[in-house]
Amino acid sequence: MNTIEVENLTKRFGKFTAVDHINFEVKQGEIFGFLGANGAGKSTTIRMLCGLLSSSEGTARVGGFDINKDPNSVKESIGYMSQKFSLYEDLTVTENIEFFGKVYGLSDSDLNERKNWVLDIANLHGREHSITQTLSGGWKQRLALGCAVLHRPRIIFLDEPTSGVDPVMRRKFWELINDLSAEGVTVLVTTHFLEEAEYCNDIILINAGKIIAAGSPKELKQNYIKHPILEVQCSDVVDAMEKIETQPWAVETSIFGTSIHVNVEDEEKARVKIKELLSGAKINLIAIERITPSLEDVFIYLLDQQGGEK
Ligand SMILES: Nc1ncnc2c1ncn2[C@@H]1O[C@H](COP(=O)(O)OP(=O)(O)OP(=O)(O)O)[C@@H](O)[C@H]1O
Ligand SMILES: [Mg+2]
Repeated sequence: MNTIEVENLTKRFGKFTAVDHINFEVKQGEIFGFLGANGAGKSTTIRMLCGLLSSSEGTARVGGFDINKDPNSVKESIGYMSQKFSLYEDLTVTENIEFFGKVYGLSDSDLNERKNWVLDIANLHGREHSITQTLSGGWKQRLALGCAVLHRPRIIFLDEPTSGVDPVMRRKFWELINDLSAEGVTVLVTTHFLEEAEYCNDIILINAGKIIAAGSPKELKQNYIKHPILEVQCSDVVDAMEKIETQPWAVETSIFGTSIHVNVEDEEKARVKIKELLSGAKINLIAIERITPSLEDVFIYLLDQQGGEK
């Protein structure tokens, strides 16, 4: 059983509820995205699912084992890459791998074979004797992932594995995650990069400890973005946003970098209105384009509805 089943899982710290009766299931071999703003309850949930923290209410089965009744069996079945950096900075790459191999109780021959495997998958050949501290962020994360899967767990939990990693390295990291999933490994991953969430088979969005949306990236876009989205590029986005968001035809308006996304009921009518409005305000309009919604559009919409902040 390589699945995760979560039932009414709840964690209270004193009177504060960090995780509030959440329910979800992760199928074998699935890449499952666990998303939410800072403090939403992602790491707390992961620590419970890894058998490191008991729940206040509800429970979960990970690999068939109950997290409260049998946390040790849970720990033996999983790999965990924590949000805080988990490697020893003053050891070399090889020494870190050996250390974790011993923690997992691997035999010398298994460890030797796995060491090479980790160097392969993390593409760290040639860096075996580098002191971990001297590796750049991306290399460190790859080594941390390698160490987390050293014992070939069938279920892995990755808590923000790509924070501080450049886009090229992030892509490589996701290739590695995809390879593991193709081998049947179940992956639960948190990220603040919504373009990464597009790679997940299923996603849940958690806000203040509660699940507020769940589904595949495609389902989330279809279910929550009912109106066309226009991307408006213009000379002064802040001013333009203030003008547009008060208009009755603008369902939802948000700034995306140097442009504005406007959710509208009637595309043609909105195009005319935007042109009129900006020209009246002496704002130089560069382009209006209909765009395919991204997960960022979905989440901004959902978090706005909650009155929360992204
Ligand atoms: N041991 C603890 N005692 C008290 N409060 C805690 C404890 N651990 C976490 N919290 C609180 O629980 C809430 C959820 O924290 P958590 O670390 O799970 O969030 P997160 O979704 O992982 O956020 P981030 O994206 O910043 O990593 C936060 O308000 C946090 O301050
Ligand atoms: Mg966290």
